[in-house]
Amino acid sequence: MRGGRYILRVNALLGSSGKLAWRQLLTALYSSAAAEAKNSTSQSPTLEILGQSYPTDTHTNTTPTILSKLSRNLHLQPSHPLNTLKRRIESHFSTFTHLDNLNPVVTTTQNFDDLLFEPSHPGRSKTDTYYINSSHVLRTHTSAHQSDVLRNGKSNGYLLTADVYRRDEIDVSHYPVFHQMEGIRIFPRSNLSAEISSDLSTLTSSAPSPTSITDIPTSDTNPIQSVHTKSEADLVTKHLKTSLESMVKSLFRDETLQIRWIEAYFPFTSPSWEMEILYQDKWLEILGCGVVQQQILDSTGHADKVGWAFGLGLERIAMVLFDIPDIRLFWSEDKRFLSQFREGEVTTFKPFSKYPACYKDISFWCPAEKEGEKWHDNDFAEIVRDVAGDLAENVRLIDQFTHPKKGTVSRCFRINYRSMERTVTNEEIDRIQDEVRRISAEKLGVTLR
Ligand code: DAH
Repeated sequence: MRGGRYILRVNALLGSSGKLAWRQLLTALYSSAAAEAKNSTSQSPTLEILGQSYPTDTHTNTTPTILSKLSRNLHLQPSHPLNTLKRRIESHFSTFTHLDNLNPVVTTTQNFDDLLFEPSHPGRSKTDTYYINSSHVLRTHTSAHQSDVLRNGKSNGYLLTADVYRRDEIDVSHYPVFHQMEGIRIFPRSNLSAEISSDLSTLTSSAPSPTSITDIPTSDTNPIQSVHTKSEADLVTKHLKTSLESMVKSLFRDETLQIRWIEAYFPFTSPSWEMEILYQDKWLEILGCGVVQQQILDSTGHADKVGWAFGLGLERIAMVLFDIPDIRLFWSEDKRFLSQFREGEVTTFKPFSKYPACYKDISFWCPAEKEGEKWHDNDFAEIVRDVAGDLAENVRLIDQFTHPKKGTVSRCFRINYRSMERTVTNEEIDRIQDEVRRISAEKLGVTLR
């Protein structure tokens, strides 16, 4: 919503005098967003993305609101918390090659097939992924670049930072764009034990502060690859876990930090784990990792190597480190947010104010489900995002029932609207809500109640 397209239009409305009242400005902003959403029903034959033209087709589900985020590059803005965190992690992996400027448009081959995703993997579905067209998507994870980086690179370690895109629910910790960092480390199989033990001795000696760590051993459900010996898998695992524990300890510098490893599944690693940290009495997942599937190394020219990889979510960690309560704040252009942070420094965010929320309910009968046309809450969330932008704080399904005779399903969602920067008016939200209702009926075929 705050992206380039809308801002341009508002500037045009402002004219040279620049004297349009704030309220009028907002009205202009939202009606232009609404007009945009309306227009997006009639799809244009091509999408222009970062200077490249892509034909659209029946798979296209990327909206102008999402495309407006592509140019923001928050992870490259000096003094932005995401940049500070990125640089801290980079300095921890100082011998790795650092990449942070790769195109977010990737092929389905890069995002899924190269990483051994099954054809039926749910991550491929249009409800979860932003498709540019049937062959191109906005990367859903930094792992999309693993194969290319391995194929082209000469280094034994890579760290890659990028914005990633997922159709998702709406709440304080989910935003359709977020940032990940991917790490890959490979070792020659012939000299594995020597290389790993020399590395481990420096890693363990430089790791700060005692921290409590709980580990879970590999099991039948999280197997060592048949092409690896137990000793190879154990060495790589030890290096992986020690490296990541040491990185997390250096980020948090908190002696009481509790870390635990839990078993996980990713198509491109085995065994696989997630690391969680205890935060406000809850276990918070901060990264996924594992021993790279040998097939990926074999097909990228590294048959003689073994390796590990990880992917971590920068916002998750930054929210804890900087005490940022809402993921939308990272996108704020409000000086009261941005001016609080200094390049390279981790400081505690001081909320400038929590403005009042305004909630609205919407109820409708969903269209009858056909094969290939199943209802998905993400499709509704996407409409809310497109119309309300960052004013949508939370969308929650609060009621659902099936008509006893007709078998049709009614759903009721509660949309919580709140601005991070000012108090919203009821009239302004009513207009947005009307637009959400209208577009839901038009695009999802629901019958409003
Ligand atoms: N790509 C995974 C995700 O987005 C995270 C991840 C898991 C990355 C394991 C990795 C890995 O490189 O080895 O959830």
